[in-house]
Amino acid sequence: MTKSPRSFYQPLAIGAPAPLRELPVQLERMIHFVPPQIEKMRGKVAGLIGKVDVVLGNLEDAIPADEKDAARQGFIQMARDNDFGDTGLWARVNCLNSPWLLDDILEIVPAVGHKLDVIMLPKVEGAWDIHYLDQLLAQLEARHGIEKPILIHAILETAEGVKNVADIALASPRMHGMSLGPADLAASRGMKTTRVGGGHPDYGVLADPGADAHAARAFYQQDLWHYTVAKMVDACMSAGIKPFYGPFGDFSDLAACESQFRNAFLMGCVGAWSLHPTQIDIAKRVFSPDPDEVAFAAKIIKAMPDGTGAVMIDGKMQDDATWKQAKVIVDLAKIVAAKDSDFAERYAL
Ligand code: GLV
Ligand code: MG
Repeated sequence: MTKSPRSFYQPLAIGAPAPLRELPVQLERMIHFVPPQIEKMRGKVAGLIGKVDVVLGNLEDAIPADEKDAARQGFIQMARDNDFGDTGLWARVNCLNSPWLLDDILEIVPAVGHKLDVIMLPKVEGAWDIHYLDQLLAQLEARHGIEKPILIHAILETAEGVKNVADIALASPRMHGMSLGPADLAASRGMKTTRVGGGHPDYGVLADPGADAHAARAFYQQDLWHYTVAKMVDACMSAGIKPFYGPFGDFSDLAACESQFRNAFLMGCVGAWSLHPTQIDIAKRVFSPDPDEVAFAAKIIKAMPDGTGAVMIDGKMQDDATWKQAKVIVDLAKIVAAKDSDFAERYAL
C-alpha cells in the first residue's frame, strides 16, 4: 500500500511547512560528532564550524545513560550559542524504543528546531519508523512555527533495516539520506567482528594452489561492507537521497580509515562520519574529487558539448554514458569549489 502521489507532498499537519521536493544542494563530506554534555567540547564548536561540513550533536550511543539529559540540554545550548552559516547542524537522537527519544524530540524541536537541518535516527527497521517521526515532526513544526522542514537521516544498522532499505529510502519526502552503522549492524546480524567498520583480516579469498602443493598461497582480504554499502547506495540514489559511510572506529589506523572511506566514495557515497579530528581531513580529501579526475572529466564535457556521440580522449572511448559519469564528478567539484577555496584553485574550473 502506498500513498497517492498527490498526498505524498502534502504537509502532515495543518500549518507545517510543505515537504521539500528536492534536497538542498549541500556539501556534506563529513558529519562531525560532538558529545554535547561536555562543556569543553561545546566550547570547540565555534572553531569547528569553519572546518567541517556538518556539526552533529550526539545524544545516542557513547553518551552514558545518566548523561542523556545533560547531552540534550548541551545540544540546545550549542545550537543557540553558535551561528552555523552554511555548515549543517544535525542531532543524532536516541532510538525510537529508548526511554529518551520522546524528550529528545519534544525538547529540541521547540527550542532550536528553526536552526536544525537534520535529525539522524538510529536503528531504523522499516518505513514505519520514518512515518512515526515524520508525523511527529510535522505536528511540532506546525505548533512552533518552524518554516523549514527538518529532514530525517536514517542509520542503516539492523538486519531488518537492511532488508527494508529501499522502503526506508522512499518512506517520506523528509528523507535526507542514510549512513551505514557497521557496529550495530555487525551485532544485529551476528557478524563475528568487534571492529567498528573497516576490514577484517580473516575475511578474504585464498588463491588456488599452484603446481607446488606445499607453496604458500596468497590470501586477498575482502571488504566486509561491500554488499551493504552497495545495497544502500542503490536504495538511496534511486530515491534521490544521499548515502554515507558511517563511523570508522580505529583512530590509530588513518590509512585503513582512508581506504574504507575511499571505497565508499567510489561506490557512490557522499560523505562519512568523523569521530576524531584526524578523520576530518581524511574525509575532506576522500570525498572531494581528485583534481586530475576533475580535469579529465572537464575535458570529456568540453569535447562533447551536447553530451551525445563518441570521441576518443587520451586513447579512451567516451560516449553519452561517460559524459554523464564526467558530469557527476564536475558537478561535485563545483559544489566543493564553491565552499572550499583550496579546492577551487586546484580544480580551476
Ligand atoms: C553506528 O552507530 C554504528 O552502530 O556503527
Ligand atoms: Mg549504532
